[in-house]
Amino acid sequence: MNHLALLRRDTAISNTTTAAFAADVQAGLSARQKNLPAKYFYDRRGSELFEQICDLPEYYPTRTEIGLLRRHGREMARLIGPDAEIVEFGAGALVKIRLLLDALDRPRGFLPIDISGAHLSDAAAALMRDHPGLRVRPVAGDFTAPDLVLPARLPGTRCRAGFFPGSTIGNFTPEEALGFLRGAARMLGDDNTGNSGLLIGVDLVKDPTLLHAAYNDAAGVTAAFNLNLLRRINRELGGDFVLERFAHYAFYQPQHQRIEMHLVSLAAQSVRIGNRRYDFGAGESIHTENSYKYTLSGFHHLAEQAGFRPVAVWTDPDNLFSLHWLALD
Ligand code: AVJ
Repeated sequence: MNHLALLRRDTAISNTTTAAFAADVQAGLSARQKNLPAKYFYDRRGSELFEQICDLPEYYPTRTEIGLLRRHGREMARLIGPDAEIVEFGAGALVKIRLLLDALDRPRGFLPIDISGAHLSDAAAALMRDHPGLRVRPVAGDFTAPDLVLPARLPGTRCRAGFFPGSTIGNFTPEEALGFLRGAARMLGDDNTGNSGLLIGVDLVKDPTLLHAAYNDAAGVTAAFNLNLLRRINRELGGDFVLERFAHYAFYQPQHQRIEMHLVSLAAQSVRIGNRRYDFGAGESIHTENSYKYTLSGFHHLAEQAGFRPVAVWTDPDNLFSLHWLALD
């Protein structure tokens, strides 16, 4: 069981309001380049499909990052230090936070920040059972909100370490990524006693053929994940998308160092959502996701601009994926 599934069980009501979803869809489909925000992929079915993506042979990030946590967790724990409070940005896979907590010396607190923070109870109970000194305090909120305030650090804890695995930062434009890192620095740096920082997973620039395969799997799971967004619009907003009339299209864009995912209209067609109509030309696309890739030096530069000091980076032998420890002193 993983808390991604636990947290995102009722995303239709808890991840966002239907009104916000409707407004974002209306704005996105009215733009010249039609687009939809990637955060709406994760309804119940979308979260299941994402978990399947993580197990695909072509999708290297999840297993590579887990391997790095297994192999280098002790070293990460040494840099973070004892009696730490871990702040996780978003609802990641339970296996990753478990590996980190298992490696740490007396982890004292775990604060998962998620929009649907209330659903963590099963996962929280399991974590506290395995770590008797650990207090789990879910924080309900949007971790990209600049005004998000964390509860005060527990007495007796020595530092606060952020944890942002999975290269979720890849969904942000570089400007948004810088904004996120600055916000994280502010949240984690509050009454910093010297050891605070951020452990963050970042996918790396590599042979475009490998990147292409990771977002164009042979089993078609990524295509189903992409198309599920239209099904969600149909169900939650009263749309009439015919999924067979759209095709998954993902490609690497070297100039921006990003994978772009689109849904391409296979014919000229009109789609109704509620009482609005949207026209699609044959071949016109909806841009549904960016997944930025970084070089080690490119990411270090971004982290430094946000006020972090890059202290350590772990990569696999094939340089597929990286985990960075960014300090705040
Ligand atoms: C969850 C944003 C890290 O960009 O690789 C996987 C999402 N999209 N396959 C990624 C995703 C298509 C994933 N992130």
